[in-house]
Amino acid sequence: ARLGVCFGGPSPEHDVSVLTGLQAARELSRVGRQPVALYWSRTGEWYQVEPNLEASDFLEGVPRGAAPLRLLASPEGGFVPEAGRFRQARPLGLDVVLVCCHGGPGEDGSLQGALDLAGLTYTGPDPAGAALGMDKLAFAGLCAAAGLPVLPRRALGADGDELADLAGPLILKPRFGGSSIGIEVVADRATAQARLAANPHLRRGAVVEPYRAELFDLNVAVRRYPRLEVSAIERPLKQQAGGEILGYQDKYVGGEGMASAPRELPAQVAPALAEALQDAARQVAELVGVRGVARVDFLSDGEDFWVNEVNTIPGSLARYLWVDPPLAFGQLLDDLVAEALA
Ligand code: DAL
Ligand code: MG
Repeated sequence: ARLGVCFGGPSPEHDVSVLTGLQAARELSRVGRQPVALYWSRTGEWYQVEPNLEASDFLEGVPRGAAPLRLLASPEGGFVPEAGRFRQARPLGLDVVLVCCHGGPGEDGSLQGALDLAGLTYTGPDPAGAALGMDKLAFAGLCAAAGLPVLPRRALGADGDELADLAGPLILKPRFGGSSIGIEVVADRATAQARLAANPHLRRGAVVEPYRAELFDLNVAVRRYPRLEVSAIERPLKQQAGGEILGYQDKYVGGEGMASAPRELPAQVAPALAEALQDAARQVAELVGVRGVARVDFLSDGEDFWVNEVNTIPGSLARYLWVDPPLAFGQLLDDLVAEALA
């Protein structure tokens, strides 16, 4: 199959996506799959680039030698009503697009819908699964309805009445964000509301939940193809001294993004907790209809746990979490492609 790898995009997580995309493209090149690297710029244009570039080649914007593409809706391509899909102006002959986008339209279902209309097969979540995974409010509600433990999470509106039951320090998060970008710990409701106008990441919506300093992150990857499987549990480690939460800097310390961030893997947790987390991750995968590989993030005090979120296109495609039994990155990519083509 001729494979495209798409990454970047007009998202606050653009840089993280470049790392994920280049890791996948490099691995596919290494095994002789000759991927077509599709770079989606910060401003939304598409380019074909060399698959063996480095993240540093993207620091100043579109890398040198990039060839502009009119991938989807465009005057040259355009919508073909009778076919119900977009025609590509310059068909690349792709059989599958490996989606490596994080945040924004690449992970919220927009790109997935566009690919559906273009008649392009792709890896990872479908529009509905992607949209649900990006919506921290809807996702928490779904988990609660399914009986999974979640911390009380509320939409932050202009009047704040809905927060009356949340006292003390709060975590304020973009409703549709990722990679900890735009998250703040605030002392109380009034401060949370004051931040609504000041924090640009909250413009599309914000959620708040109680901040509990004793809680830490535990993450599990999950996939449903070729069979429902969960990874080992990781405990990502904070790098920023005094950091209140696991932040962007903590997650992307090394040059390889998520893949090289410091972590305890497998996390040293009680066997009963490990089992409960893996069970919950399987449940989340079924609830959200995970396609491809997802990472379910939890908070825990070492005994109890709460589902925090699901990342339907996780950093580095969560390749580093499959240690027991080991799963090679190449095999993970092969399975993603096979699932997309199935
Ligand atoms: N949103 C980032 C990439 C993650 O959670 O893995
Ligand atoms: Mg996330």
